Amino acid sequence: MTDRPDGLPWHHNAVVYEVYLRSFADGNGDGIGDLAGLRSRLPYLRDLGVDALWLTPWYVSPMADGGYDVADYRDIDPLFGTLADAEELIRAVHDVGLKIVIDIVPNHCSDQHPWFTAAVAAGPGRPERAKFWFRPGRGENGDLPPNDWGSMFGGPAWTRVTEPDGAAGQWYLHLYAREQPDLNWDNPEVRAEFESILRFWLDRDVDGFRIDVADFLVKDPQLPDVAGHAARTTQPWEDQDGLHDIYRAWRKLVDSYPRDAVLIGEIWLKPLTRLRPFLLGDQLHTAFNFDFMGLPWNAGRFRQTIDTTLTSIGAAAPWVLSNHDVTRHLTRYGRAGTGSEWQPDPGTPDLTLGTRRARAALLLSLALPGSSYLYQGEELGLWEVEDIPDELIADPIFERTDHFIRGRDGCRVPLPWQAAAAGFGFGPAGAKPPWLPQPEAWRELAADSQAGDPDSILELYRSALRLRKTRSLLGADSLTWLDAADGVLAFARPDGFGCAVNLSARTVPLPPHEEILLASGPLAEGLLPPDTAAWLRLAG
Ligand code: GLC
Ligand code: CA
Repeated sequence: MTDRPDGLPWHHNAVVYEVYLRSFADGNGDGIGDLAGLRSRLPYLRDLGVDALWLTPWYVSPMADGGYDVADYRDIDPLFGTLADAEELIRAVHDVGLKIVIDIVPNHCSDQHPWFTAAVAAGPGRPERAKFWFRPGRGENGDLPPNDWGSMFGGPAWTRVTEPDGAAGQWYLHLYAREQPDLNWDNPEVRAEFESILRFWLDRDVDGFRIDVADFLVKDPQLPDVAGHAARTTQPWEDQDGLHDIYRAWRKLVDSYPRDAVLIGEIWLKPLTRLRPFLLGDQLHTAFNFDFMGLPWNAGRFRQTIDTTLTSIGAAAPWVLSNHDVTRHLTRYGRAGTGSEWQPDPGTPDLTLGTRRARAALLLSLALPGSSYLYQGEELGLWEVEDIPDELIADPIFERTDHFIRGRDGCRVPLPWQAAAAGFGFGPAGAKPPWLPQPEAWRELAADSQAGDPDSILELYRSALRLRKTRSLLGADSLTWLDAADGVLAFARPDGFGCAVNLSARTVPLPPHEEILLASGPLAEGLLPPDTAAWLRLAG
């Protein structure tokens, strides 16, 4: 089923806006974003012109990892609201004409999930433990971890439990924080439970799922050490063959509902071509284009990644510049390098340069075939906050790396809505301050200071999203490169739509055109200055 005249599903070239719930808008004044806050801002999202929202986890959670440690997949955390609020929110999102995609976290649950507490209480060898990866330790007293795997957040991927009789006992696997035990997907109960969870939410009319660490669910059952296997291209916890059966079953399940729900995978496998087997038509619909997200400000690199994407995966790898796990792109583009995923390059970013490039990058990504994911706050020109005081940092990475890596809170600072209000209007009048402090300089970036100012980045986003809807950008997936100077990307899309982006340090001529539809910054007469992009109606 589809609501599009061309028969393509809605997500084929939708623009999806990621809502990091605890930092979007606070409805009840406790300083933490919630469903009521989001609901009150739906008109803003509708007017921005996006097609869908992706919400980070809203489930019951002890919040050891911002909600990616789920204790109950069928209920909402009281910090965010109630199940009834979620049901109303889904309706309200649909009423303003948007779709809603939710996060599903199948690789691990919370150590407070009843399955895990029961597994610990049951003791070694009991079936309750088979839903996780419990193993005896190595060494004489079993006090060494079962293998040498490390947690993605730092430290070992294993934690030892105390057995019901008080003795030091088995270890369990957690590829993330110790509060996030990995589920064993070889266990049929685990599979059945997640299919039931998917149904629970599809029955409540969600339009799809963003699958958290979609490539880690299945492990090599031997749990082999990784040291001494540097040449191995696939780690024993990633990209295992068994994943495909899981996603085939999920796809069948999702397709049995009449809403064209989307399955989008969070898969960090490199290179991007490794996503292909997941996207063959019977598994995931799409998977984020993280190669694109990680690119430095370099035309050749962008062109190469765009070409590889389109030839190997087509429109199934949505363009993405930022998300809640990486340094905001405005800051990355304001530095010489790209910044690693969780630890930015040292040195002070040039935020003016970063802003100019972020504006140009928007026009580039929205002009490419397929769908795009935006991360909340990029439309306000927010940068990475890199001076959060140590004692306020909530990301478990900070503790797990002995304060070596500061983690991801810098892109999770609550949004500024109103320049004149306390906490920039993140919460209602009289609310507690936002859970992370906002830079004073964000006053100028507050949504209400930018609205109506044609030079603001917010109005650039609105214009671009509006134009994208009216132009043939929603049509066929084709892209033709045009001749362009070194360091410049220029391409044509169907019906004479053109895009030119100058990533070089020199001003260059625009491709021959009849009309300039939109530009990311001031243009010199017929010329495209550095770090600027333009949308064109091409000549003839
Ligand atoms: C994903 C999420 C990230 C989370 C991790 C563990 O990468 O995007 O925020 O910490 O999975 O669930
Ligand atoms: Ca709140």
